[in-house]
Amino acid sequence: MIKITISPINELFAARIEGIDVANPRIDEVFDEVRQAFDKYGVLIFPDQRISADEQQAFAERFGELESFPEASMQKKTPKVYNISNKSESGDLLGKDSVQARMLKGTELWHTDSSYRDVPALASFLFALEIPDSSETGGQTEFSDMISAYEDLPRALLEKLNGRHMVHNYEYERLYVDTELPPMSLDEKLNVPPVTHPVIRFHPHNGKCSVYITSNVGDVIGGYGYEEGRALHRELLDFVTQRKYVYQHQWLPHDLVVWDNRRTMHRVIPYDIDKQPRVMQRTTVSDVGPPVAPWMNKHSHTL
Ligand SMILES: [Fe+2]
Repeated sequence: MIKITISPINELFAARIEGIDVANPRIDEVFDEVRQAFDKYGVLIFPDQRISADEQQAFAERFGELESFPEASMQKKTPKVYNISNKSESGDLLGKDSVQARMLKGTELWHTDSSYRDVPALASFLFALEIPDSSETGGQTEFSDMISAYEDLPRALLEKLNGRHMVHNYEYERLYVDTELPPMSLDEKLNVPPVTHPVIRFHPHNGKCSVYITSNVGDVIGGYGYEEGRALHRELLDFVTQRKYVYQHQWLPHDLVVWDNRRTMHRVIPYDIDKQPRVMQRTTVSDVGPPVAPWMNKHSHTL
């Protein structure tokens, strides 16, 4: 019988799970416990895993259906597992001016994965193959707990957000952040047209509400003038990413980190992308439907 240890990392969210090899077929015995921990803590660290791309995919599929990435140009290992990497397929560092490295700049902005989709990501799985030298700065991943941030929102800010939606647009990064990136093809654009999601959402598995915004695929809150909406987005982003809501993960090789995109945001801390290899094996599980606002759910008690 497998016996796992779940150790909370701080009092708000995030936990380490030890005593488990996620590739072990006997994980069935404890998977309910793992899934409950996912809904409770939002970020799970599985240290010292030895998994192939196929084994990572099989573990992720226990949580739901996997996403494919919208852009054909991303380096892929299998159709549903790809590398987030600053190296070429032949293993050379690509350099900060490469398209791949510039695309990675978007991961330095606070975001929640695939919010640009009508049905965004439920869970992301990131497995550390190569990480920057720990004596150098950067390369960590930070997570922000959007449930705690929501629960602390000042009343005046909450009232401004009640019933609002945010526009999430995959093309935003090219239009506003790095206009020199090659344009998306028509097929890619049609695959991920802009969508809106409620700024406050309900979490169906823990009954809590959270803030649901991002900064890498948009910067406005609907229902306000453009500048006013951007200012409100900035104010909200600053509030929800205060250090008290943030857990910073210092990667070790073979860490597998799984997070709940419904109630966290994350970003990578900038590192020397020209000199320090950082190679992560990534899979993403899609949610089962669009985000649900609390007023759309009879089980939520908010506002
Ligand atoms: Fe991400």
